[in-house]
Amino acid sequence: MTISDYPLSIQKSRCIAVANQKGGVGKTTTAINLATAMAAVRKKILILDLDPQGNASTGLGVRHDQRAINSYHVLIGENSISEAIVETSIPGLHVVPSGVDLSGAEIELVEFEDRLFRLKTALAERIDDYDYVLIDCPPALGLLTVNALTAANAVLVPLQCEFFALEGISHLVRTIERIKKSYNPDLEIQGIVLTMFDSRNNLSDAVASDVRQYFGDIVYETVIPRNVRVSEAPSHGKPVLLYDTRCAGSQAYIHLASEVLKRESRLHA
Ligand SMILES: Nc1ncnc2c1ncn2[C@@H]1O[C@H](COP(=O)(O)OP(=O)(O)O)[C@@H](O)[C@H]1O
Ligand SMILES: [Mg+2]
Repeated sequence: MTISDYPLSIQKSRCIAVANQKGGVGKTTTAINLATAMAAVRKKILILDLDPQGNASTGLGVRHDQRAINSYHVLIGENSISEAIVETSIPGLHVVPSGVDLSGAEIELVEFEDRLFRLKTALAERIDDYDYVLIDCPPALGLLTVNALTAANAVLVPLQCEFFALEGISHLVRTIERIKKSYNPDLEIQGIVLTMFDSRNNLSDAVASDVRQYFGDIVYETVIPRNVRVSEAPSHGKPVLLYDTRCAGSQAYIHLASEVLKRESRLHA
């Protein structure tokens, strides 16, 4: 038996874009806590902060002086991704922070012929160092999100349990289908996660059952409850998983991470 007879056991890196064009639906919270939960089971994770607001960077305790080289410079080609990567206090979890310059990037990117693939190209240099790259997308379907969707293998969609949730998501699903057809044939929806679920609110229940009826198994079983500890954590520069591991929000994100990893191993073993 030679080495080539062994099955390849090296897991290929996977890139998951956390996307929804609506703001305030839990993208950043989900990216940060999913990443933290995955890092806790010894996965090597890179979070790419693609929102000019920089909430993922702040929520992971990245100082402003550590953001001098950020995702803007990487996209524009001024710096390599290696120069932008910052370590966090969580072992195995690295970040490419964002910066305010990123808000102008949509316009600057138009100049480049390869404007739809700049992130994918830049990521290639380091993607093999990680098990998962999670992209925290901005609340729009412009060039930044499109760059995330061409770079990604899969999309994870946080959906807030509120009225009109389904209408917003159908636009996103159409965009994903379009990108898949034209630029990234392997792109898939990893799943839809219901966020900020309020068990005292009948609307939350109604929205959750509508979404499940419409999307079926794509919707994760795990539902993220509305939880005050989750909203407190970012001001401490920590994922809620570190801020209060036992709270309902943290426990839900641990379940979500295990569901995501289970789907990954089923689909891409
Ligand atoms: N499960 C939750 N319970 C309570 N507050 C939450 C929860 N998830 C997110 N939040 C809060 O809601 C706001 C929007 O969440 P965020 O993750 O930043 O959304 P997005 O990235 O989609 O704009 C933030 O202030 C965040 O702390
Ligand atoms: Mg955000």
